[in-house]
Amino acid sequence: MGQQPREQWGTRAGFLMAAIGSAIGLGNIWRFPYVAYENGGGAFLLPYLIAMLTAGIPLLILEYGIGHRYRSSAPLSYRRIFRPAEAIGWWQVAICFVVAVYYAVIIAWAIRFTWFSVNQAWGDDPDGFFFNDFLQMSPEPGVVSGFVSGVAWPLVAVWFVTLAVLIIGIRRGIEILNKITIPLLVVLFGLLVIQALTLDGAVVGLNAFFTPDWEAMLTGKVWIAAYGHVFFSLSIGFGIMVTYASYLRRKSDLTGSAMVAGFANSSFELLAGIGVFAALGFMATAAGTAVDEVATSGIGLAFIAFPQIISSLPFGGSLFGVLFFGCLVIAGLTSLISIVQVIVSAVQDRTGLGRTQTVLLVGGATALASILLFPTPEGLHFLDVFDHFINQYGIALAGLVLVIFVGWGVRKLPLFQSHVNAVSSIHLGLWWRVTLGGVTPVLLGIMMWDSLRTELATNYGGYPTGYLLAAGWGVAIGAIVFGVVMSCFPWKRADAIARHDAERVSDEDGTPAQLEAPNDIAPSGTAVPAFDKEKEEDR
Ligand code: ALA
Repeated sequence: MGQQPREQWGTRAGFLMAAIGSAIGLGNIWRFPYVAYENGGGAFLLPYLIAMLTAGIPLLILEYGIGHRYRSSAPLSYRRIFRPAEAIGWWQVAICFVVAVYYAVIIAWAIRFTWFSVNQAWGDDPDGFFFNDFLQMSPEPGVVSGFVSGVAWPLVAVWFVTLAVLIIGIRRGIEILNKITIPLLVVLFGLLVIQALTLDGAVVGLNAFFTPDWEAMLTGKVWIAAYGHVFFSLSIGFGIMVTYASYLRRKSDLTGSAMVAGFANSSFELLAGIGVFAALGFMATAAGTAVDEVATSGIGLAFIAFPQIISSLPFGGSLFGVLFFGCLVIAGLTSLISIVQVIVSAVQDRTGLGRTQTVLLVGGATALASILLFPTPEGLHFLDVFDHFINQYGIALAGLVLVIFVGWGVRKLPLFQSHVNAVSSIHLGLWWRVTLGGVTPVLLGIMMWDSLRTELATNYGGYPTGYLLAAGWGVAIGAIVFGVVMSCFPWKRADAIARHDAERVSDEDGTPAQLEAPNDIAPSGTAVPAFDKEKEEDR
Protein backbone atom coordinates (compact mmCIF):
# COMPACT_ATOMS: atom_id res chain seq x y z
CA MET A 1 0.00 0.00 0.00
CA GLY A 2 1.41 3.35 -1.02
CA GLN A 3 4.65 1.86 -2.16
CA GLN A 4 4.52 3.23 -5.69
CA PRO A 5 6.70 6.20 -6.63
CA ARG A 6 4.83 9.40 -7.36
CA GLU A 7 3.40 9.53 -10.85
CA GLN A 8 4.77 12.01 -13.38
CA TRP A 9 3.61 13.76 -16.51
CA GLY A 10 5.08 12.15 -19.61
CA THR A 11 6.09 15.38 -21.34
CA ARG A 12 6.08 19.10 -20.76
CA ALA A 13 3.45 19.47 -23.48
CA GLY A 14 1.36 16.92 -21.61
CA PHE A 15 1.50 18.93 -18.40
CA LEU A 16 0.74 22.13 -20.28
CA MET A 17 -2.27 20.61 -21.98
CA ALA A 18 -3.55 19.34 -18.64
CA ALA A 19 -3.01 22.74 -16.99
CA ILE A 20 -4.74 24.49 -19.89
CA GLY A 21 -7.47 21.86 -19.85
CA SER A 22 -8.04 22.57 -16.18
CA ALA A 23 -8.10 26.32 -16.69
CA ILE A 24 -10.35 26.34 -19.75
CA GLY A 25 -13.65 25.15 -18.45
CA LEU A 26 -17.20 26.13 -17.79
CA GLY A 27 -15.71 29.29 -16.32
CA ASN A 28 -14.63 30.45 -19.75
CA ILE A 29 -17.73 29.62 -21.74
CA TRP A 30 -20.60 29.51 -19.28
CA ARG A 31 -19.45 31.83 -16.52
CA PHE A 32 -17.30 34.56 -18.09
CA PRO A 33 -19.93 35.95 -20.47
CA TYR A 34 -22.57 36.28 -17.77
CA VAL A 35 -20.17 37.61 -15.14
CA ALA A 36 -18.90 40.15 -17.67
CA TYR A 37 -22.48 40.93 -18.66
CA GLU A 38 -23.62 41.45 -15.06
CA ASN A 39 -20.63 43.60 -14.26
CA GLY A 40 -20.78 46.31 -16.85
CA GLY A 41 -20.00 44.35 -20.02
CA GLY A 42 -16.96 45.99 -21.52
CA ALA A 43 -16.16 47.67 -18.21
CA PHE A 44 -15.37 44.27 -16.85
CA LEU A 45 -12.44 43.74 -19.18
CA LEU A 46 -10.10 46.19 -17.50
CA PRO A 47 -10.57 44.90 -13.92
CA TYR A 48 -10.28 41.41 -15.38
CA LEU A 49 -6.96 42.22 -17.03
CA ILE A 50 -5.62 43.91 -13.91
CA ALA A 51 -6.74 40.98 -11.76
CA MET A 52 -5.06 38.58 -14.17
CA LEU A 53 -1.73 40.44 -14.09
CA THR A 54 -1.61 41.37 -10.42
CA ALA A 55 -3.02 38.18 -8.94
CA GLY A 56 -3.77 35.50 -11.52
CA ILE A 57 -0.40 34.88 -13.15
CA PRO A 58 1.74 35.59 -10.03
CA LEU A 59 -0.36 33.22 -7.92
CA LEU A 60 -0.34 30.60 -10.66
CA ILE A 61 3.47 30.71 -10.59
CA LEU A 62 3.49 30.42 -6.79
CA GLU A 63 1.20 27.38 -6.92
CA TYR A 64 3.41 25.77 -9.56
CA GLY A 65 6.44 26.52 -7.39
CA ILE A 66 4.89 25.00 -4.26
CA GLY A 67 3.72 21.83 -6.02
CA HIS A 68 7.00 21.41 -7.86
CA ARG A 69 9.15 21.99 -4.81
CA TYR A 70 7.33 19.66 -2.44
CA ARG A 71 5.93 17.15 -4.93
CA SER A 72 2.90 16.61 -2.77
CA SER A 73 -0.82 17.25 -2.66
CA ALA A 74 -1.97 20.66 -1.43
CA PRO A 75 -2.32 19.78 2.31
CA LEU A 76 1.02 18.02 2.49
CA SER A 77 2.82 20.72 0.47
CA TYR A 78 1.59 23.50 2.77
CA ARG A 79 2.35 21.37 5.79
CA ARG A 80 5.92 21.05 4.59
CA ILE A 81 6.14 24.84 4.44
CA PHE A 82 4.70 25.28 7.92
CA ARG A 83 2.88 22.56 9.81
CA PRO A 84 -0.38 24.38 10.75
CA ALA A 85 -0.73 25.58 7.16
CA GLU A 86 -1.90 22.10 6.29
CA ALA A 87 -5.37 23.44 7.19
CA ILE A 88 -5.32 25.66 4.07
CA GLY A 89 -4.77 22.56 1.96
CA TRP A 90 -7.70 20.64 3.45
CA TRP A 91 -9.82 23.77 3.14
CA GLN A 92 -9.01 23.72 -0.58
CA VAL A 93 -9.86 20.02 -0.73
CA ALA A 94 -13.28 20.84 0.73
CA ILE A 95 -13.69 23.69 -1.77
CA CYS A 96 -12.92 21.25 -4.59
CA PHE A 97 -15.53 18.88 -3.24
CA VAL A 98 -18.19 21.61 -3.23
CA VAL A 99 -17.26 22.89 -6.69
CA ALA A 100 -17.10 19.37 -8.15
CA VAL A 101 -20.58 18.42 -6.98
CA TYR A 102 -22.26 21.30 -8.81
CA TYR A 103 -19.79 21.66 -11.68
CA ALA A 104 -20.61 18.13 -12.86
CA VAL A 105 -24.30 18.89 -13.14
CA ILE A 106 -23.73 21.78 -15.53
CA ILE A 107 -21.78 19.40 -17.77
CA ALA A 108 -24.73 17.02 -17.52
CA TRP A 109 -27.12 19.78 -18.67
CA ALA A 110 -24.76 20.55 -21.54
CA ILE A 111 -24.79 16.89 -22.61
CA ARG A 112 -28.59 16.96 -22.81
CA PHE A 113 -28.59 20.33 -24.59
CA THR A 114 -26.11 19.05 -27.20
CA TRP A 115 -28.75 16.49 -28.02
CA PHE A 116 -31.68 18.91 -27.70
CA SER A 117 -29.93 21.17 -30.23
CA VAL A 118 -30.33 18.60 -32.98
CA ASN A 119 -34.10 19.05 -33.16
CA GLN A 120 -34.29 22.19 -31.06
CA ALA A 121 -36.37 20.43 -28.45
CA TRP A 122 -37.06 23.64 -26.53
CA GLY A 123 -39.57 24.77 -29.19
CA ASP A 124 -40.46 28.43 -28.99
CA ASP A 125 -40.13 28.73 -25.23
CA PRO A 126 -36.51 28.01 -24.17
CA ASP A 127 -37.08 29.70 -20.82
CA GLY A 128 -40.05 27.53 -19.87
CA PHE A 129 -38.36 24.49 -21.34
CA PHE A 130 -35.18 24.92 -19.27
CA PHE A 131 -36.77 25.69 -15.91
CA ASN A 132 -40.02 23.75 -16.06
CA ASP A 133 -39.68 20.87 -18.48
CA PHE A 134 -36.01 20.07 -18.17
CA LEU A 135 -35.03 21.00 -14.60
CA GLN A 136 -38.58 20.70 -13.21
CA MET A 137 -37.44 23.45 -10.92
CA SER A 138 -39.26 24.21 -7.73
CA PRO A 139 -40.01 27.92 -7.35
CA GLU A 140 -38.83 27.82 -3.73
CA PRO A 141 -35.43 26.73 -2.47
CA GLY A 142 -35.45 24.03 0.17
CA VAL A 143 -34.78 20.43 0.93
CA VAL A 144 -34.73 17.88 -1.86
CA SER A 145 -38.28 16.91 -2.86
CA GLY A 146 -37.88 14.65 -5.87
CA PHE A 147 -35.65 13.27 -8.55
CA VAL A 148 -35.29 14.50 -12.12
CA SER A 149 -34.16 11.53 -14.17
CA GLY A 150 -33.48 13.57 -17.32
CA VAL A 151 -30.68 15.34 -15.44
CA ALA A 152 -29.61 12.32 -13.39
CA TRP A 153 -28.55 9.93 -16.13
CA PRO A 154 -26.21 12.31 -17.98
CA LEU A 155 -24.82 13.22 -14.55
CA VAL A 156 -24.08 9.56 -13.86
CA ALA A 157 -22.30 9.42 -17.23
CA VAL A 158 -20.21 12.49 -16.36
CA TRP A 159 -19.09 10.90 -13.12
CA PHE A 160 -18.39 7.58 -14.79
CA VAL A 161 -16.03 9.19 -17.32
CA THR A 162 -14.37 11.37 -14.68
CA LEU A 163 -13.64 8.53 -12.30
CA ALA A 164 -12.48 6.27 -15.13
CA VAL A 165 -9.93 8.83 -16.33
CA LEU A 166 -8.72 9.39 -12.78
CA ILE A 167 -8.31 5.65 -12.22
CA ILE A 168 -6.26 5.33 -15.41
CA GLY A 169 -3.87 7.87 -13.94
CA ILE A 170 -1.89 11.03 -14.55
CA ARG A 171 0.12 10.14 -17.59
CA ARG A 172 -2.11 7.62 -19.33
CA GLY A 173 -5.43 9.10 -18.28
CA ILE A 174 -5.41 12.86 -17.66
CA GLU A 175 -2.49 13.69 -19.95
CA ILE A 176 -3.67 11.73 -22.96
CA LEU A 177 -7.25 12.92 -22.59
CA ASN A 178 -6.16 16.57 -22.56
CA LYS A 179 -3.76 16.13 -25.46
CA ILE A 180 -6.70 14.99 -27.56
CA THR A 181 -9.49 17.20 -26.27
CA ILE A 182 -7.81 20.60 -25.99
CA PRO A 183 -6.81 20.91 -29.68
CA LEU A 184 -10.26 19.55 -30.58
CA LEU A 185 -11.90 22.12 -28.35
CA VAL A 186 -9.96 24.98 -29.93
CA VAL A 187 -10.96 23.89 -33.44
CA LEU A 188 -14.64 23.40 -32.57
CA PHE A 189 -14.87 26.62 -30.63
CA GLY A 190 -13.07 28.49 -33.41
CA LEU A 191 -15.72 27.28 -35.86
CA LEU A 192 -18.44 28.41 -33.50
CA VAL A 193 -17.01 31.91 -33.13
CA ILE A 194 -16.58 32.25 -36.89
CA GLN A 195 -20.22 31.29 -37.37
CA ALA A 196 -21.27 33.79 -34.67
CA LEU A 197 -19.27 36.60 -36.25
CA THR A 198 -20.98 36.16 -39.60
CA LEU A 199 -24.44 36.76 -38.11
CA ASP A 200 -26.37 39.97 -38.72
CA GLY A 201 -25.96 42.26 -35.74
CA ALA A 202 -22.77 40.59 -34.46
CA VAL A 203 -21.11 44.01 -34.40
CA VAL A 204 -23.84 45.38 -32.14
CA GLY A 205 -23.06 42.66 -29.63
CA LEU A 206 -19.34 43.24 -29.85
CA ASN A 207 -19.86 46.94 -29.25
CA ALA A 208 -21.84 46.14 -26.12
CA PHE A 209 -19.08 43.82 -24.97
CA PHE A 210 -16.15 46.11 -25.63
CA THR A 211 -17.64 49.50 -24.72
CA PRO A 212 -16.45 50.29 -21.22
CA ASP A 213 -18.95 51.55 -18.71
CA TRP A 214 -16.53 53.55 -16.59
CA GLU A 215 -19.05 54.13 -13.83
CA ALA A 216 -19.45 50.42 -13.19
CA MET A 217 -15.73 50.23 -12.60
CA LEU A 218 -16.06 52.43 -9.54
CA THR A 219 -18.05 49.81 -7.69
CA GLY A 220 -16.27 47.27 -5.51
CA LYS A 221 -18.63 44.56 -6.74
CA VAL A 222 -17.16 44.65 -10.25
CA TRP A 223 -13.62 44.30 -8.93
CA ILE A 224 -14.39 41.44 -6.59
CA ALA A 225 -16.20 39.74 -9.46
CA ALA A 226 -13.10 40.19 -11.63
CA TYR A 227 -10.73 38.79 -9.01
CA GLY A 228 -13.14 36.00 -8.13
CA HIS A 229 -13.52 35.09 -11.75
CA VAL A 230 -9.78 35.08 -12.45
CA PHE A 231 -9.25 32.64 -9.61
CA PHE A 232 -12.02 30.37 -10.87
CA SER A 233 -10.95 30.62 -14.45
CA LEU A 234 -7.23 30.01 -13.97
CA SER A 235 -7.97 27.19 -11.50
CA ILE A 236 -6.03 28.91 -8.71
CA GLY A 237 -7.03 29.01 -5.06
CA PHE A 238 -8.40 25.45 -5.29
CA GLY A 239 -5.06 23.65 -4.87
CA ILE A 240 -5.40 22.31 -8.43
CA MET A 241 -2.19 23.82 -9.72
CA VAL A 242 -0.23 22.77 -6.64
CA THR A 243 -1.47 19.24 -7.27
CA TYR A 244 -0.79 19.22 -11.01
CA ALA A 245 2.68 20.72 -10.58
CA SER A 246 3.51 18.04 -8.02
CA TYR A 247 3.64 15.52 -10.86
CA LEU A 248 6.22 17.55 -12.78
CA ARG A 249 9.76 16.46 -13.39
CA ARG A 250 12.47 18.31 -11.55
CA LYS A 251 13.62 20.17 -14.60
CA SER A 252 10.44 21.95 -15.59
CA ASP A 253 10.09 25.46 -16.89
CA LEU A 254 7.58 26.82 -14.37
CA THR A 255 7.27 30.46 -15.39
CA GLY A 256 7.17 29.62 -19.10
CA SER A 257 4.39 27.12 -18.45
CA ALA A 258 2.45 29.59 -16.31
CA MET A 259 2.65 32.27 -19.00
CA VAL A 260 1.52 29.88 -21.71
CA ALA A 261 -1.34 28.50 -19.61
CA GLY A 262 -2.46 32.00 -18.52
CA PHE A 263 -2.29 33.38 -22.04
CA ALA A 264 -4.14 30.39 -23.51
CA ASN A 265 -6.86 30.65 -20.88
CA SER A 266 -7.42 34.37 -21.33
CA SER A 267 -7.37 34.10 -25.11
CA PHE A 268 -10.00 31.40 -24.97
CA GLU A 269 -12.06 33.42 -22.54
CA LEU A 270 -11.93 36.47 -24.75
CA LEU A 271 -12.87 34.33 -27.71
CA ALA A 272 -15.83 33.01 -25.73
CA GLY A 273 -16.87 36.57 -24.85
CA ILE A 274 -16.65 37.55 -28.52
CA GLY A 275 -18.63 34.51 -29.65
CA VAL A 276 -21.32 34.90 -27.01
CA PHE A 277 -21.77 38.65 -27.47
CA ALA A 278 -21.76 38.38 -31.27
CA ALA A 279 -24.60 35.88 -30.93
CA LEU A 280 -26.41 38.15 -28.45
CA GLY A 281 -26.00 41.04 -30.89
CA PHE A 282 -27.69 38.93 -33.54
CA MET A 283 -30.53 38.14 -31.18
CA ALA A 284 -31.01 41.77 -30.17
CA THR A 285 -30.98 42.94 -33.77
CA ALA A 286 -33.51 40.30 -34.77
CA ALA A 287 -35.77 41.32 -31.88
CA GLY A 288 -35.24 45.03 -32.54
CA THR A 289 -34.02 45.69 -28.98
CA ALA A 290 -30.80 46.46 -27.15
CA VAL A 291 -28.33 43.74 -26.21
CA ASP A 292 -28.91 44.22 -22.49
CA GLU A 293 -32.60 43.50 -23.01
CA VAL A 294 -32.17 40.14 -24.69
CA ALA A 295 -29.60 38.52 -22.48
CA THR A 296 -30.83 36.53 -19.53
CA SER A 297 -28.50 37.26 -16.71
CA GLY A 298 -26.90 34.61 -14.58
CA ILE A 299 -26.76 30.90 -14.97
CA GLY A 300 -29.44 30.78 -17.62
CA LEU A 301 -27.48 32.76 -20.20
CA ALA A 302 -26.05 29.65 -21.82
CA PHE A 303 -29.14 27.50 -21.46
CA ILE A 304 -31.83 30.05 -22.32
CA ALA A 305 -30.33 32.75 -24.50
CA PHE A 306 -28.38 30.28 -26.62
CA PRO A 307 -31.34 28.06 -27.45
CA GLN A 308 -33.21 31.24 -28.49
CA ILE A 309 -30.32 32.20 -30.74
CA ILE A 310 -30.06 28.69 -32.17
CA SER A 311 -33.75 28.70 -33.02
CA SER A 312 -33.62 32.07 -34.74
CA LEU A 313 -30.61 31.35 -36.93
CA PRO A 314 -31.52 31.39 -40.60
CA PHE A 315 -29.52 28.20 -41.20
CA GLY A 316 -27.09 25.90 -39.38
CA GLY A 317 -28.85 26.36 -36.05
CA SER A 318 -28.50 22.76 -34.99
CA LEU A 319 -24.81 22.69 -35.84
CA PHE A 320 -24.29 25.91 -33.87
CA GLY A 321 -26.01 24.35 -30.88
CA VAL A 322 -24.11 21.08 -31.07
CA LEU A 323 -20.83 23.01 -31.29
CA PHE A 324 -21.67 25.30 -28.40
CA PHE A 325 -22.93 22.68 -25.96
CA GLY A 326 -20.39 20.11 -27.15
CA CYS A 327 -17.61 22.58 -26.33
CA LEU A 328 -19.12 23.12 -22.89
CA VAL A 329 -19.00 19.36 -22.28
CA ILE A 330 -15.38 18.96 -23.38
CA ALA A 331 -14.13 22.06 -21.55
CA GLY A 332 -16.05 21.13 -18.41
CA LEU A 333 -14.89 17.53 -18.23
CA THR A 334 -11.17 18.30 -18.31
CA SER A 335 -11.64 20.87 -15.54
CA LEU A 336 -13.82 18.60 -13.41
CA ILE A 337 -11.16 15.91 -13.59
CA SER A 338 -8.54 18.36 -12.29
CA ILE A 339 -10.81 19.44 -9.45
CA VAL A 340 -11.46 15.88 -8.27
CA GLN A 341 -7.75 15.06 -8.63
CA VAL A 342 -7.04 17.55 -5.79
CA ILE A 343 -9.19 15.44 -3.45
CA VAL A 344 -7.77 12.15 -4.70
CA SER A 345 -4.17 13.29 -4.39
CA ALA A 346 -4.68 14.66 -0.86
CA VAL A 347 -6.34 11.47 0.37
CA GLN A 348 -3.68 9.33 -1.30
CA ASP A 349 -0.93 11.25 0.45
CA ARG A 350 -2.76 11.11 3.74
CA THR A 351 -3.73 7.44 3.74
CA GLY A 352 -1.21 5.79 1.44
CA LEU A 353 -4.06 4.07 -0.40
CA GLY A 354 -3.57 3.23 -4.06
CA ARG A 355 -5.00 5.37 -6.83
CA THR A 356 -7.88 3.08 -7.79
CA GLN A 357 -9.06 2.59 -4.23
CA THR A 358 -8.82 6.30 -3.49
CA VAL A 359 -10.68 7.31 -6.63
CA LEU A 360 -13.44 4.81 -5.93
CA LEU A 361 -13.69 5.94 -2.34
CA VAL A 362 -13.50 9.72 -2.47
CA GLY A 363 -14.43 10.20 -6.11
CA GLY A 364 -17.36 7.88 -5.52
CA ALA A 365 -18.46 9.86 -2.45
CA THR A 366 -18.24 13.13 -4.39
CA ALA A 367 -20.23 11.63 -7.25
CA LEU A 368 -22.86 10.35 -4.85
CA ALA A 369 -23.31 13.76 -3.20
CA SER A 370 -23.62 15.33 -6.63
CA ILE A 371 -26.18 12.78 -7.84
CA LEU A 372 -28.28 13.02 -4.68
CA LEU A 373 -28.41 16.79 -4.48
CA PHE A 374 -28.58 18.23 -7.98
CA PRO A 375 -30.90 16.27 -10.27
CA THR A 376 -33.74 17.52 -8.10
CA PRO A 377 -36.30 20.33 -8.37
CA GLU A 378 -34.25 22.27 -5.80
CA GLY A 379 -30.92 21.59 -7.56
CA LEU A 380 -30.61 24.92 -9.34
CA HIS A 381 -31.09 26.88 -6.10
CA PHE A 382 -28.32 24.87 -4.44
CA LEU A 383 -26.11 25.38 -7.45
CA ASP A 384 -26.61 29.13 -7.54
CA VAL A 385 -25.90 29.60 -3.84
CA PHE A 386 -22.99 27.14 -3.69
CA ASP A 387 -21.37 28.78 -6.71
CA HIS A 388 -21.67 32.27 -5.29
CA PHE A 389 -20.48 31.52 -1.76
CA ILE A 390 -17.74 29.05 -2.55
CA ASN A 391 -16.27 31.47 -5.08
CA GLN A 392 -16.36 34.59 -2.94
CA TYR A 393 -15.63 33.06 0.43
CA GLY A 394 -13.92 29.86 -0.64
CA ILE A 395 -11.66 30.07 -3.67
CA ALA A 396 -10.85 33.80 -3.55
CA LEU A 397 -10.49 33.79 0.23
CA ALA A 398 -8.27 30.69 0.23
CA GLY A 399 -6.11 32.37 -2.41
CA LEU A 400 -5.86 35.48 -0.23
CA VAL A 401 -4.99 33.45 2.87
CA LEU A 402 -2.35 31.49 0.94
CA VAL A 403 -0.72 34.67 -0.31
CA ILE A 404 -0.74 36.29 3.13
CA PHE A 405 0.62 33.13 4.69
CA VAL A 406 3.51 32.66 2.24
CA GLY A 407 4.24 36.37 1.75
CA TRP A 408 3.79 37.79 5.22
CA GLY A 409 3.42 34.82 7.58
CA VAL A 410 6.39 32.62 6.82
CA ARG A 411 7.98 35.16 4.43
CA LYS A 412 8.96 32.57 1.90
CA LEU A 413 8.37 34.44 -1.34
CA PRO A 414 12.15 34.85 -1.87
CA LEU A 415 12.58 31.12 -1.34
CA PHE A 416 9.97 30.27 -3.96
CA GLN A 417 11.36 32.93 -6.26
CA SER A 418 14.78 31.28 -6.26
CA HIS A 419 13.24 27.83 -6.52
CA VAL A 420 11.24 28.85 -9.58
CA ASN A 421 14.12 30.78 -11.13
CA ALA A 422 16.46 27.82 -10.80
CA VAL A 423 14.39 25.81 -13.25
CA SER A 424 12.58 28.41 -15.37
CA SER A 425 13.26 30.28 -18.59
CA ILE A 426 11.71 33.62 -17.59
CA HIS A 427 13.19 34.74 -14.28
CA LEU A 428 10.98 36.26 -11.63
CA GLY A 429 12.05 39.64 -10.38
CA LEU A 430 10.99 42.04 -7.69
CA TRP A 431 7.69 42.59 -9.56
CA TRP A 432 6.56 39.11 -8.60
CA ARG A 433 7.19 39.61 -4.90
CA VAL A 434 5.59 43.05 -4.99
CA THR A 435 2.42 41.94 -6.78
CA LEU A 436 2.03 38.81 -4.72
CA GLY A 437 3.14 40.12 -1.36
CA GLY A 438 1.73 43.64 -1.72
CA VAL A 439 -0.77 44.36 -4.45
CA THR A 440 -2.74 41.11 -4.35
CA PRO A 441 -3.36 40.89 -0.61
CA VAL A 442 -4.17 44.57 -0.25
CA LEU A 443 -6.55 44.77 -3.23
CA LEU A 444 -8.12 41.42 -2.53
CA GLY A 445 -8.45 42.20 1.18
CA ILE A 446 -10.24 45.50 0.52
CA MET A 447 -12.53 43.86 -1.98
CA MET A 448 -13.30 40.96 0.29
CA TRP A 449 -14.30 43.39 3.00
CA ASP A 450 -16.45 45.39 0.60
CA SER A 451 -18.18 42.30 -0.69
CA LEU A 452 -18.76 41.02 2.82
CA ARG A 453 -20.51 44.25 3.77
CA THR A 454 -22.83 43.99 0.76
CA GLU A 455 -23.42 40.35 1.51
CA LEU A 456 -24.50 41.11 5.05
CA ALA A 457 -26.70 44.02 4.01
CA THR A 458 -28.68 42.24 1.29
CA ASN A 459 -29.61 38.60 0.88
CA TYR A 460 -27.83 37.13 -2.15
CA GLY A 461 -30.32 36.49 -4.96
CA GLY A 462 -33.20 37.37 -2.64
CA TYR A 463 -32.99 33.95 -0.97
CA PRO A 464 -34.37 33.57 2.58
CA THR A 465 -31.82 34.15 5.33
CA GLY A 466 -32.15 30.64 6.74
CA TYR A 467 -31.39 29.14 3.36
CA LEU A 468 -28.34 31.33 2.85
CA LEU A 469 -27.11 30.46 6.33
CA ALA A 470 -27.34 26.75 5.59
CA ALA A 471 -26.44 26.44 1.90
CA GLY A 472 -24.24 29.53 1.55
CA TRP A 473 -22.46 30.50 4.75
CA GLY A 474 -22.79 26.97 6.12
CA VAL A 475 -20.95 25.50 3.15
CA ALA A 476 -18.29 28.22 2.97
CA ILE A 477 -17.59 28.16 6.71
CA GLY A 478 -17.96 24.38 6.82
CA ALA A 479 -15.09 24.11 4.33
CA ILE A 480 -12.84 26.13 6.65
CA VAL A 481 -13.83 24.07 9.68
CA PHE A 482 -13.14 20.89 7.74
CA GLY A 483 -9.66 22.21 6.89
CA VAL A 484 -8.83 22.99 10.50
CA VAL A 485 -10.20 19.71 11.85
CA MET A 486 -8.34 17.60 9.28
CA SER A 487 -5.08 19.35 10.05
CA CYS A 488 -5.43 18.51 13.76
CA PHE A 489 -5.18 14.77 13.29
CA PRO A 490 -1.71 13.34 13.80
CA TRP A 491 -0.06 12.36 10.55
CA LYS A 492 2.79 9.93 11.08
CA ARG A 493 3.73 9.62 7.43
CA ALA A 494 4.02 13.37 7.01
CA ASP A 495 6.15 13.64 10.15
CA ALA A 496 8.51 11.03 8.74
CA ILE A 497 8.85 13.11 5.58
CA ALA A 498 9.44 16.28 7.57
CA ARG A 499 12.20 14.60 9.59
CA HIS A 500 13.81 13.40 6.43
CA ASP A 501 13.60 16.88 4.93
CA ALA A 502 15.11 18.50 7.97
CA GLU A 503 18.12 16.25 7.70
CA ARG A 504 18.34 16.82 4.00
CA VAL A 505 17.97 20.47 3.29
CA SER A 506 17.60 23.75 5.04
CA ASP A 507 14.63 25.56 3.56
CA GLU A 508 16.24 28.90 4.10
CA ASP A 509 19.08 28.49 1.64
CA GLY A 510 16.82 28.94 -1.34
CA THR A 511 18.16 25.94 -3.19
CA PRO A 512 15.52 23.96 -5.02
CA ALA A 513 14.82 21.03 -2.73
CA GLN A 514 14.36 18.52 -5.49
CA LEU A 515 17.51 19.43 -7.34
CA GLU A 516 19.78 18.69 -4.50
CA ALA A 517 18.08 15.68 -3.01
CA PRO A 518 20.38 12.71 -3.03
CA ASN A 519 17.41 10.46 -2.58
CA ASP A 520 13.95 11.82 -2.53
CA ILE A 521 11.10 10.68 -0.38
CA ALA A 522 7.68 10.44 -1.90
CA PRO A 523 4.72 11.73 0.02
CA SER A 524 3.75 8.13 0.41
CA GLY A 525 6.69 7.96 2.78
CA THR A 526 8.79 5.60 0.76
CA ALA A 527 12.22 6.14 -0.70
CA VAL A 528 11.67 6.83 -4.36
CA PRO A 529 13.46 4.53 -6.68
CA ALA A 530 12.03 6.60 -9.53
CA PHE A 531 14.33 9.45 -8.55
CA ASP A 532 17.30 7.75 -10.14
CA LYS A 533 15.27 6.68 -13.11
CA GLU A 534 14.13 10.25 -13.58
CA LYS A 535 17.67 11.51 -13.31
CA GLU A 536 18.56 9.23 -16.16
CA GLU A 537 15.65 10.56 -18.23
CA ASP A 538 16.63 14.15 -17.55
CA ARG A 539 20.14 13.75 -18.80
N1 ALA B 1 -10.87 26.75 -14.34
C1 ALA B 1 -12.06 26.03 -14.44
C2 ALA B 1 -13.10 26.79 -15.18
O1 ALA B 1 -12.83 27.83 -15.69
C3 ALA B 1 -12.54 25.60 -13.10
O2 ALA B 1 -14.19 26.35 -15.29
